[in-house]
Amino acid sequence: MSILVTGGAGFIGSHTCLNLLESGYDVFVLDSFVNSSPESLARVKSICEKDKKPKRDLHVFKGDLRNASILKDIFTKANEINKKIDGVIHFAGLKSVKESVEKPILYWDANVGSTINLLNVMQSFDCSTIVFSSSATIYGRSSKTKLKENFKLKPINPYGSTKMVIEKLLNDLFVNYSGSWRVANLRYFNPIGAHESGLIGENPKGIPNNIFPFLTNVAAGNLEELRIFGKNWPTIDGTGERDYVHVMDLAEGHVKTLEFLINNGPQCLSMNLGTGKGTSVLQLLNIFEESNSLKIPHTFVERRSGDVARLVADNSLLKSLLNWYPKRTLNQMCKDGWRWQVNNPRGY
Ligand SMILES: NC(=O)c1ccc[n+]([C@@H]2O[C@H](COP(=O)([O-])OP(=O)(O)OC[C@H]3O[C@@H](n4cnc5c(N)ncnc54)[C@H](O)[C@@H]3O)[C@@H](O)[C@H]2O)c1
Repeated sequence: MSILVTGGAGFIGSHTCLNLLESGYDVFVLDSFVNSSPESLARVKSICEKDKKPKRDLHVFKGDLRNASILKDIFTKANEINKKIDGVIHFAGLKSVKESVEKPILYWDANVGSTINLLNVMQSFDCSTIVFSSSATIYGRSSKTKLKENFKLKPINPYGSTKMVIEKLLNDLFVNYSGSWRVANLRYFNPIGAHESGLIGENPKGIPNNIFPFLTNVAAGNLEELRIFGKNWPTIDGTGERDYVHVMDLAEGHVKTLEFLINNGPQCLSMNLGTGKGTSVLQLLNIFEESNSLKIPHTFVERRSGDVARLVADNSLLKSLLNWYPKRTLNQMCKDGWRWQVNNPRGY
């Protein structure tokens, strides 16, 4: 079977491509490399070669998802070599909350515009299976301990709005095309860590927006200190509580979701993809320091606007439907993430 992975060179995409190839799928990637490097996919290939698993093909195309002709070329090429694309995992998009507030039109174009283009081309090539990268940011503020899929959706920034509206669009496709579409919206919580080889990992351009790459960069001496936003949140120690999930567990969750859609027919699912366990910033910091025998300079600063005290998944739907369980501990996330940083001080 062949899968198109949009944004496959990025952080989550590269780890998922690896898992797809290891699970026996041929993979076609479309990526503009606006926030990534083709080197990540070269490394995915080299890990597969070392593992000596039965070889599957990885085809990489450089291009923007808003460009219909490159998308059509990929579907056509796949047909020509008898590798018709059976499904799409759709990661490509921009993901900075801060940038989305500054440039909402860019975000609607890059995330929603590109998805409309993708869906049009998928439809014209009779491909109607899609796993979409959604986000926990689509939930409204909530004091509930764990977020369930049926909670009110009320994003508070343009990035979250684009994710919510794409979910609605996918649901419209499912409802209005006599149930031919197989859709899964995966709402991620906080993916961190890296592949255990230390060859692929998170490689943000510029100063990281997310806590984990910020932390590893402070540990490496590239940034002065970890800034912790707020120390009086209503949480166990006053710092924000998040649900950290190992990126390889997340990647495995995608392959399981895809297989569930392929085996179970048309449907439109929305599922939380997190561990269901909350960890505060200070707890994460302590585990990182202990796992890697390091000390991280840190300081407390004002809360950021738009932040929330706690974002933790109720992951019971995903567990019961897919039999997916996070296998890797926070300790392992911290070790694997640090190994990636040490082995690749300047990224790819
Ligand atoms: N990392 C997280 O914490 C997180 C959390 C929730 C949701 N998500 C979502 O998951 C997806 C993947 O996230 P990631 O962390 O791997 O991000 P990433 O930036 O590492 O990967 C996104 C990839 O998409 C590519 N891309 C962006 N716009 C494109 C376009 N128009 N055409 C072609 N390629 C394009 C980038 O070059 C990059 O390789 C994103 O949609 C993101 O919004 C991420």
